[in-house]
Amino acid sequence: MQLSVVAILLAVAGPATCQLDKWAKEAGLKYFGTAVDNPSLSNQAYMKIARDSSEFGSITPANGQKWSNTEGSQGRFSYGSGDAITSVAKQSGQLLRCHTLVWHNQLPVSSSFSRDQMQRIITAHIQNVAGHYKGQCYAWNVVNEVLENDGTFRQSPMYRAMGIKFITHSFKTAAQTDPLAKLYLNDFNIERCCNAKINATISLLKTVIAAGAPVHGVGMQGHSRVGKSPSKREMKEAMAQFAELVDEVAFTEVDIRHTKLPVTAEDREQQARDYVEVVGACLETAKCVGVTVWDFTDQYSWIPSQYPGEGEACLFDNNLGKEAGVYRRGQPPPECSVFGLAGKGDARP
Ligand code: G3I
Repeated sequence: MQLSVVAILLAVAGPATCQLDKWAKEAGLKYFGTAVDNPSLSNQAYMKIARDSSEFGSITPANGQKWSNTEGSQGRFSYGSGDAITSVAKQSGQLLRCHTLVWHNQLPVSSSFSRDQMQRIITAHIQNVAGHYKGQCYAWNVVNEVLENDGTFRQSPMYRAMGIKFITHSFKTAAQTDPLAKLYLNDFNIERCCNAKINATISLLKTVIAAGAPVHGVGMQGHSRVGKSPSKREMKEAMAQFAELVDEVAFTEVDIRHTKLPVTAEDREQQARDYVEVVGACLETAKCVGVTVWDFTDQYSWIPSQYPGEGEACLFDNNLGKEAGVYRRGQPPPECSVFGLAGKGDARP
């Protein structure tokens, strides 16, 4: 199908949304998903889109299930923030990608612990949190961001106490607690084959899998910059490396930010092409199960607070218009056209 035909179909059908998940499924993926954070739950216009399962077939809580929200102080567990998001997925018939069990950030457990103490802390955290969500999570990001960009281990409280064994232990505990969830290692800057971090990730995976860690998937976060993001070829090569070791791979937190605002029409064209490369890389990788964007609207993007002066990284702009973000081009949204042109799995290996 030509792009112009897709444009006409969209114009005639006039979908309120792009139906990303519908296209994704037709093209052979399991889902096209989005992160949802708690503050957006009261925004009805936002929630109408977030709950539309033809648009997003999977939800990831952006913060609700993190350590600070589920175990704010040691041994005291609470699930209000997490449940508020997971119930959206349940009510809307969407998959749930759960995020995240063991991460150095948003971690109230910051003091030094002995190896045994840390092992007990991790065990209790995973047993309680993954136990609470048992049976609900299609996937869990079990460990998040365990390596530095140069490939060395991040000196997190968990690593300092236990070394690499904290990773093996986390995966084993998660598998015992929720045997049906796909267990992922999740990280950023592992999309462009093959930098030091990718090489280190591969060697880490080999080590922990040999030690008995049931790692099912590798999540590539996919945060990148317009015009600087990895090419489809580079991403496919990275995924091919991971695919030798695990059952599945996924893009888990995609956003592509402009580093200079305001943006020009050419910047938007480039951003659209960059998004298409990500989706295309997933479509053309047999083990890539889906793409998740790290929220779909600039309104709730983490970018402006973290990178002042940068932004407009999401598919929809602040106003949630369907011509927002990469939709702004006045063309059919390229990610729609990617799925539309790929058609019923044609692009899948
Ligand atoms: O909830 C408090 C609120 O009570 C308080 O008034 C407010 C004042 O700052 O802070 C609120 O907490 C914020 C929280 O998001 C909830 O919105 C934190 O300050 C803020 O640091 C936190 O940022 C999150 C960040 O992870 C933490 O590192 C972002 O929303 C979230 O999008 C981001 O997500 C991460 C992924 O988990 C892992 N990969 C990178 C990605 C982007 O940083």
